[in-house]
Amino acid sequence: FVDPSFSHAVIQWQKQHGRHLLPWQQSREAYRVWLSEIMLQQTQVTAVIPYYEKFLQSYPTVFDLAAAPAESVMAHWSGLGYYTRARNLHQCAKQVVEKYDGHFPVDPLLLEQLPGIGRSTAAAITAFSYGTTAAILDGNVKRVFTRVFGIAGYPGSKPIEDDLWQRAMALLPEVGIEAYTQGLMDLGATLCTRSSPACPRCPLQARCVAHAENRTAELPTRKPK
Ligand code: ADE
Ligand code: SF4
Repeated sequence: FVDPSFSHAVIQWQKQHGRHLLPWQQSREAYRVWLSEIMLQQTQVTAVIPYYEKFLQSYPTVFDLAAAPAESVMAHWSGLGYYTRARNLHQCAKQVVEKYDGHFPVDPLLLEQLPGIGRSTAAAITAFSYGTTAAILDGNVKRVFTRVFGIAGYPGSKPIEDDLWQRAMALLPEVGIEAYTQGLMDLGATLCTRSSPACPRCPLQARCVAHAENRTAELPTRKPK
């Protein structure tokens, strides 16, 4: 499915209409990027912002976080939900200090072995911190891809997920991975929303199967009962 015009459309849209002023976009420091990506895994941007800022005030570096008592890390997380993330976050900080001298690995495959970091989060961290070209595939991106390509079937199932990863890799740009990655996230979060996608403002509208066939309400396919 190689198609440079896809990434070009996403990158141009991100530069003009995407988000640029989010607190975690102001630094490429891997610790900050990692912290934001973990918080954003299951929580909305507006809810994350105050937690992100308070966390960084209390734990400015991965060494501070690794050395903190578990109770104080949990107290800082209180209210964000999905508390396994906080336990993994703390374990991850300890491992980065012990195994990597406080430096987050540059290789996404090494990052993925750390607690709480899956394939998509590893790719987002390396893209934003180091400019590494790797594919992301979170819930928002799955929604955009299933709609644009008209892919029916539950996106959490193995065959659909494999297909989506193949497409995600084939669509990667040769340059501009930061804008492309942020653009896909922003498209999914701000335009291609679950219940009311803003297709008239979407840079992918001309190539979108769900839009052309009036199927945005049925894609992505819901989880079978
Ligand atoms: N969701 C996951 N990662 C994000 C990011 N970097 N910016 C905005 N929303 C996100
Ligand atoms: Fe989503 Fe509509 Fe854009 Fe298609 S055209 S990707 S459904 S916002």
